[in-house]
Amino acid sequence: MSDKKRLFSGIQPTGNITLGNYIGALRNFSTFQDEFDCIYCVVDLHSLTVRQNPAQLRKNTYELLALYLACGLDPAKSTLFIQSHVSEHAELAWILNTITYVGELSRMTQFKDKSSKHQDNINMGLMDYPVLMVSDILLYQTALVPIGADQKQHLELTRDIAHRFNTSYSDTFVVPEPFIPKAGARIMSLAEPTSKMSKSDENIKGFISLTDDDETIRRKLKSAVTDSGNEIVARDDKHGVTNLLTIYATLNNITMQEAEKAFVGVSYADFKMAVADIIIETIAPIRELKNEILADKGNLDKVLTDGAERARFMARKTLSKVYKKVGLIQR
Ligand code: TRP
Repeated sequence: MSDKKRLFSGIQPTGNITLGNYIGALRNFSTFQDEFDCIYCVVDLHSLTVRQNPAQLRKNTYELLALYLACGLDPAKSTLFIQSHVSEHAELAWILNTITYVGELSRMTQFKDKSSKHQDNINMGLMDYPVLMVSDILLYQTALVPIGADQKQHLELTRDIAHRFNTSYSDTFVVPEPFIPKAGARIMSLAEPTSKMSKSDENIKGFISLTDDDETIRRKLKSAVTDSGNEIVARDDKHGVTNLLTIYATLNNITMQEAEKAFVGVSYADFKMAVADIIIETIAPIRELKNEILADKGNLDKVLTDGAERARFMARKTLSKVYKKVGLIQR
């Protein structure tokens, strides 16, 4: 066994992975691979908590796996797999459900948000979503979970439940820590720069999808909301400009100060096109590579089979311990 710390992360295959997901998460995933023992999961079961078109879900799942690979995740270094291929996730979730309180789940911000967005489908899975996420993390004795601000509450719950199980039975789970990478910038909507860039945004001008073509990206940048005045600086009263500067700075690996300096005296229009250019420069090669990878289904299936096997080995070990501790008879 390696003595590297274990790191787990998952993304839902719901399509439209955005530039925000890329900068906030995906972009950093490959850089973790040497330092940590990484597990990257496509959390398809989580996606079912909102209505999905089955054919589309299948397609999105392959797309996300191909995107992982195109962003530099290496199956020789990291474990890449699909959540539903390792049934231990759902099994552990059942056990953990029995030590999770309804009150805890009904208080979750994301549950409240999603319930108000999907009022016609407030299903049990939506409420139980965090317990499945807790299971994803605890099954692998994860030490680190890279997360953005919106998942902080779910990680708190993970720590609470791990601790609760460990004290009710005996030490079983590693209690994970949130891992907030240095370069983990939060990218906001282009249309409404006070809210997060989201793939479920109804205004498609708000987000850049990693599948957007060059023209679409330029068009979206052109219509991006800027602020009054004409100074290109990062400031609390300039959400739009600050967001575009953040995108520019992170994708160029420079500081915000350096980015501001690059745009002294530049017009908003030219600034926006410079941001569009660096986005295109970053995204276009990933898009092409992803399409190449996607064309080789045989290879993708092999990656998935290997990944699931490796994941299952680790997951089974934890689940057996749990089953034993709660009093189930070993089969
Ligand atoms: N809830 C996470 C999100 O929407 C996705 C997720 C599911 C996840 N399981 C996880 C993230 C485990 C980290 C670890 O972003």
